[in-house]
Amino acid sequence: MGFLGSPSMASSSSSSSSSSSLSSASLYGAAFLLWVLVLNGAAVCNGGSTSPFVRKVEKSVDMPLDSDVFGVPPGYNAPQQVHITQGDHVGKAVIVSWVTQDEPGSDVVLYWSKNSEEKKEAKGKHLTYKFYNYTSGYIHHCTIRNLKFDTKYYYEVGIGQTVRRFWFVTPPEVGPDVPHTFGLIGDLGQTFDSNSTLTHYEHNPHKGQTLLFVGDLSYADHYPNYDNVRWDTWGRFTERSVAYQPWIWTAGNHEIDLAPEIGEKIPFKPYLCRYHTPNKASGSTSPLWYSIKRASAYIIVLSSYSAYAKYTPQYRWLEEELPKVNRSETPWLIVLMHSPWYNSYNYHYMEGETMRVMYEPWFVKYRVDVVFAGHVHAYERSERVSNIAYNIVNGLCTPVQDQSAPVYITIGDGGNIEGLAINMTEPQPKYSAFREASFGHAIFGIKNRTHAYYSWHRNQDGYAVEGDSLWFYNRYWHPIDESTSA
Ligand SMILES: [Fe+2]
Repeated sequence: MGFLGSPSMASSSSSSSSSSSLSSASLYGAAFLLWVLVLNGAAVCNGGSTSPFVRKVEKSVDMPLDSDVFGVPPGYNAPQQVHITQGDHVGKAVIVSWVTQDEPGSDVVLYWSKNSEEKKEAKGKHLTYKFYNYTSGYIHHCTIRNLKFDTKYYYEVGIGQTVRRFWFVTPPEVGPDVPHTFGLIGDLGQTFDSNSTLTHYEHNPHKGQTLLFVGDLSYADHYPNYDNVRWDTWGRFTERSVAYQPWIWTAGNHEIDLAPEIGEKIPFKPYLCRYHTPNKASGSTSPLWYSIKRASAYIIVLSSYSAYAKYTPQYRWLEEELPKVNRSETPWLIVLMHSPWYNSYNYHYMEGETMRVMYEPWFVKYRVDVVFAGHVHAYERSERVSNIAYNIVNGLCTPVQDQSAPVYITIGDGGNIEGLAINMTEPQPKYSAFREASFGHAIFGIKNRTHAYYSWHRNQDGYAVEGDSLWFYNRYWHPIDESTSA
């Protein structure tokens, strides 16, 4: 913008009185005006900021199979890949899952609360699946029900053989001012960067209590014949977190695993066999889309890679689901999906567009607070914008500021083998508040019905450092403008 104050332009337009010079001066003047307009235009378009943070660009490398984080627990038929997720609609149930490799073993989970020595027993089921030349271990799923809210429970699996013990804490009873801290990770994979992301999440002083995972888990499909051994290694790698706190699952494109060329024609097979969700509790006919309440949040999980057009099961479910959200009970309405609707990187650009066209008017109508997505391997936070005015003929196709609209956050920077998305569209669109191509994770810390503190943490920093942060104001109870680049 220093060009605006350039003295040379001012002197050139007033240096001569001849007619030819006048016309030349007019031309200069017009060119000057054009420059001013262009610069002003750039300033208007370039509303947000692109981080100047410079990192070493290195290829992401998967951790080798003999890495310690992939270690098989000792003991005969020891349970491995232990993971938990919410097992009902309100947080009084937990789905415990694990894999045994040598034989089925027991389907039983023993569990007891911190204040009770009496062990209770729940019995689950197990399954196996084949994928090309791979045969899975025995994958157990057991739902523990009727738990007390806000209580620490211990649980054991591998009963009768090699017993392993873990613990979790149930969420507080659902209510409008119940604080709860959610972690956010997407597109994790199993590289050295993935390990750094998970370590940073574990050591974050904000202490995430529940992790919202926005899709793309193992990246096993990166390997020849989709080597499902890499699903097992991912399960062992993540156990250190997900055995102790629920991860809320969203399916990404790397969960599709559709490979007709090797005879694999059932989409999502490994993912659906390994990772269960409580979809029936929210009336969903598919584990790929569902909802849960947790503390003061209502979380809706959508599937970017399942049918979502009008009349499809996902469409009908969401149409009935959104009016059910009672903001007096759960003020915070959060949506998870894999493919972002607002993304200003030159990767997966506009891939979320068709779903946006279908569902964005609902998100604005029902005042969704925030949408978390992954897929793009970088970080981006939008302003509150909507793009719902367009009706084919009116030409209104530019996103506009909209205080009823969600903030859109892309958190697909978990650190997988495909590496960082470093190319951005220029100039930065007005809807994009902040963007940076670094690996990391985020925290969404709900304080009460009006305020939530959000922070994003890059892997290069110390555990407490915030690369981006924002106080979120609830769209139902406190809908004031929190934009950062206006
Ligand atoms: Fe993806």
